[in-house]
Amino acid sequence: MPNSHDLSENLMSLQSHILLEEAKFPTASGDFTWIISAISLAAKSIANHVRRARLSGAIGKIGETNVQGEEQQKLDVIANRAIIRCLGTRASVAVLASEEHDEPTILRRGNEGGKYCVMFDPLDGSSNLDTGVGVGTIFSILRNDPHIHDAQGTVCQPGTHQVAAGYVLYGSSTIFVLTTGNGVALFELDPFIGSFLLVKEKVRIPETNKVYSVNEAYRETFPEGYRRYLDWAHQNGYSSRYIGSMVADVHRTLLTGGVFMYPPTKKNPEGKLRYLYEASPMAMIIEQAGGLAFSGSKRTMEHEPREVHERVPVLLGSRAEVEKVREFVG
Ligand code: AHG
Ligand code: MN
Ligand code: MN
Repeated sequence: MPNSHDLSENLMSLQSHILLEEAKFPTASGDFTWIISAISLAAKSIANHVRRARLSGAIGKIGETNVQGEEQQKLDVIANRAIIRCLGTRASVAVLASEEHDEPTILRRGNEGGKYCVMFDPLDGSSNLDTGVGVGTIFSILRNDPHIHDAQGTVCQPGTHQVAAGYVLYGSSTIFVLTTGNGVALFELDPFIGSFLLVKEKVRIPETNKVYSVNEAYRETFPEGYRRYLDWAHQNGYSSRYIGSMVADVHRTLLTGGVFMYPPTKKNPEGKLRYLYEASPMAMIIEQAGGLAFSGSKRTMEHEPREVHERVPVLLGSRAEVEKVREFVG
């Protein structure tokens, strides 16, 4: 048997992948790696809770609403606590901003070693939990600006400032998707060894796919251009796929192409999705995979947020498909 080794057979964990990426920056301190490792640890814990939620009585609402005015699921709180317990121990984390917290939390100032801010949606799509639909965690990492002393000001940065972004999909398997600005990598959790293993590097979104993903129940309150796009799509052989968990809808769009959108509606005139921990990180992932992401007429990554929980319209996906929608909506 010739001893030719097929390099594609190598096993590469998320940890090793990040260390390899970090080795490309001689001045890197390793702090960043610790943050990704903390998120990976939290993701394993959340996956465990999600996958046995009924057995452990973790399904259902806790009877409180969060700052968004949305009813909190027990697993929203469990996931939020898991992330904070993992990230709180990392010495380089300056500020944490969570969908579930009214205000960001300052852990360490710049002069105490706080180098990074982490924004996260601990459990995205949580209203789908009781029906077993894919849910996820979304995260975004920014550098801390030591000259800004209020937490809100520190985290309210445009998506172009992100040093990393990603999500975890708790679906038929547990998938970790990450970009550090050098392409998109996809990992799958091997539950038997408890490690996220590299499945694909340099993930590219297909240029086109005749699939649009939107909650058409709100169609009559969409701006007119979106309604004209939908009429065009109905007459041009498009199919519709909508799960109602952003992580699941965006992951499908990333892998199979098409377009995902959450337009402005009467109920949410700015759109429903939050910029810092939903739209901005997902825009970085999609752009890094060769797609486009817009919020209104502006590139999502260039939006300048003023509030932690600021909402923006979202239009993202395959280049040709996003451009087609923009022909109608401008
Ligand atoms: P979250 O569960 O974190 O509040 O996010 C839910 C979001 C997002 O996951 C999804 O795309 C959107 O809500 C679905 O909203 P509609 O039910 O209005 O379509
Ligand atoms: Mn969400
Ligand atoms: Mn959420």
